[in-house]
Amino acid sequence: MDFLECVKGRRSVRKFKDTKIGHDVLLRVVEYSSFSPSWKNSQTARYIVVEDRDILDKIADDCLNGFVFNANTIKQAPALVLVTYVTGRSGYEKDGSFSTSKGDRWEMFDAGIASQTFSLAAFNEGLGCVIFGIFNEEKVSEVVGIPKDQKLATMIAIGYPDEEPAMPKRKSVEELVEFR
Ligand SMILES: Cc1cc2nc3c(=O)[nH]c(=O)nc-3n(C[C@H](O)[C@H](O)[C@H](O)COP(=O)(O)O)c2cc1C
Repeated sequence: MDFLECVKGRRSVRKFKDTKIGHDVLLRVVEYSSFSPSWKNSQTARYIVVEDRDILDKIADDCLNGFVFNANTIKQAPALVLVTYVTGRSGYEKDGSFSTSKGDRWEMFDAGIASQTFSLAAFNEGLGCVIFGIFNEEKVSEVVGIPKDQKLATMIAIGYPDEEPAMPKRKSVEELVEFR
């Protein structure tokens, strides 16, 4: 797929076909995500793919602080990818002190870059996905059993699209840029 087609054509998808995603496809998507830049090449992003319907339903029912909109998406998604990051590396010096005034915020920054690369790579594979911001981090971490050295950055519902969403309006370039 052409770069512009990929960047402009990717949409957040919230309705999916009832088709399982092959693990070879998901592994390819993660492989492409691994090319993302990261703090001192620390590569702290990790991907936990949840396919078990009981766990997906438990997340939808109990871990979204009652946000039904996201629950409806998860209920019919074949998979939910938990993007986590290994803590204490991105943004840190070797002695454990912060490298910059942004403290540990580079951890989420790296996970965000990785999540966007993941989303674009998924689109390139014919998949659709949506990044979630609304969920109960503590509950999801407990239900899925996230390793102690990792924290949950986001959850990405993924599957073969069963909708073609229109592009939400974008701001003009003039609104976004200033030259000094
Ligand atoms: C950090 C972040 C959090 C988001 N949280 C949610 C969410 O909880 N539920 C949802 O349906 N979409 C969520 N979205 C998707 C946005 O609504 C979507 O990206 C935006 O409307 C632009 O649409 P597009 O992705 O199709 O370009 C989130 C996106 C980002 C980047």
